[in-house]
Amino acid sequence: MDYDIADPSLAELGGRRIEWAGRRMPVLANIRERFEADQPLAGITIGACMHVTTETANLMTVLRAGGAAVTLCASNPLSTQDDVAAALVADGVPVYAVRGEDSETFYRHINAVLDTRPDLVFDDGCDMTTVLHEERADQPVIGGMEETTTGVIRLRAMENEGVLRFPVVAVNDSDTKHLFDNRHGTGQSSLDGILRSANVLFAGRTVVVGGYGDCGLGIANRADGLGAKVIVVESDPVRALSAAMDGHQVMTSHDAAPLGDVFITATGDIHVFRAEHFEAMKDSVILANAGHFDVELDLKALGEMAVGYRELRDNLGEYTLPDGRRILVVAEGRLVNLGAAEGHPADVMDMSFADQALAAEWLTVNGASLDAKVYVLPKELDDQVATLKLESMGCGLEQLTDEQVAYLNSWQHGT
Ligand code: ADE
Repeated sequence: MDYDIADPSLAELGGRRIEWAGRRMPVLANIRERFEADQPLAGITIGACMHVTTETANLMTVLRAGGAAVTLCASNPLSTQDDVAAALVADGVPVYAVRGEDSETFYRHINAVLDTRPDLVFDDGCDMTTVLHEERADQPVIGGMEETTTGVIRLRAMENEGVLRFPVVAVNDSDTKHLFDNRHGTGQSSLDGILRSANVLFAGRTVVVGGYGDCGLGIANRADGLGAKVIVVESDPVRALSAAMDGHQVMTSHDAAPLGDVFITATGDIHVFRAEHFEAMKDSVILANAGHFDVELDLKALGEMAVGYRELRDNLGEYTLPDGRRILVVAEGRLVNLGAAEGHPADVMDMSFADQALAAEWLTVNGASLDAKVYVLPKELDDQVATLKLESMGCGLEQLTDEQVAYLNSWQHGT
């Protein structure tokens, strides 16, 4: 078996951590049981470009239980957990991922996975899908799955330009994904990354959050819960209003720059905080990015402004400006939750990856009859995942009486 990982001797550690994550993924375990019995992915080859984490390892196991042959590479150069990669290889899954790999290696790894000629591709950020369009346009694919908001934005742009060449399920757009993973997962794990790298107290600090989509909302609300004063910077009027009515201050990036102690971006856009803001920031502010790509903080400009740079702590770089002010950057401006922590906890990835597994099954059954478009999974599958999660949490789900159902389906009643 061919593979490229950092250190095979880490397999035992990775195996224990994968087991612990698996224990907190009951919905995925339920799907695994059915997949083992029904073999819905028998004969299917899967290429996955995802964060190599304990949760992803559990997803790979479920896909294999369903009959698929799976090969995995990293979807971000800094998110790979090398022990997990080692454990997967020991378990017979070819993995091409090394934490800290350079851009050339990153794309070599994507191509190694695509050399397996996958029928289905799992993507997180759309890089593998882009390679399939730009460099491997002749390679047949039944369909794809996309995990993240940024990837779905890229896919919709491809669909609008008429260049998308196979159907893709926007797993991110399932309610059981974005309402939980993006809000609760990103909210908690982004702060986790800042805590692990910088170990600062949030209570009493001013946290500036760039973007108030599901991810920004989650970050802002968790920072608020830790006692921080939260400022939201948002360009969409409805989202900005929503932030204001959630109790956060809402202002421009210009006005927020001198006030913040911690700045966190989650917009999907470039240069949210840039030279003009760095000029105005206080000494020892912390910058972190929770968006998929490392473009939200203009680190090139910061590097050009700085007279010094050092690694202050693990995953915490310190830039010194000519006037002596220092600006700290977590995980080189890459995804803070995966670069400086372990990503979202298994409890929430349980639903995201249940959606992924069901999407693979759905595409296997329906792929041939679909157009080259971006699809969202049917609502029944969302409801199935939510119901299983509720059961695992010991929650009761109210059943409507026949009378109540009839009332909702009628229109004659008024006052
Ligand atoms: N994205 C965010 N958190 C993740 C995790 N724990 N595993 C895989 N992808 C993720």
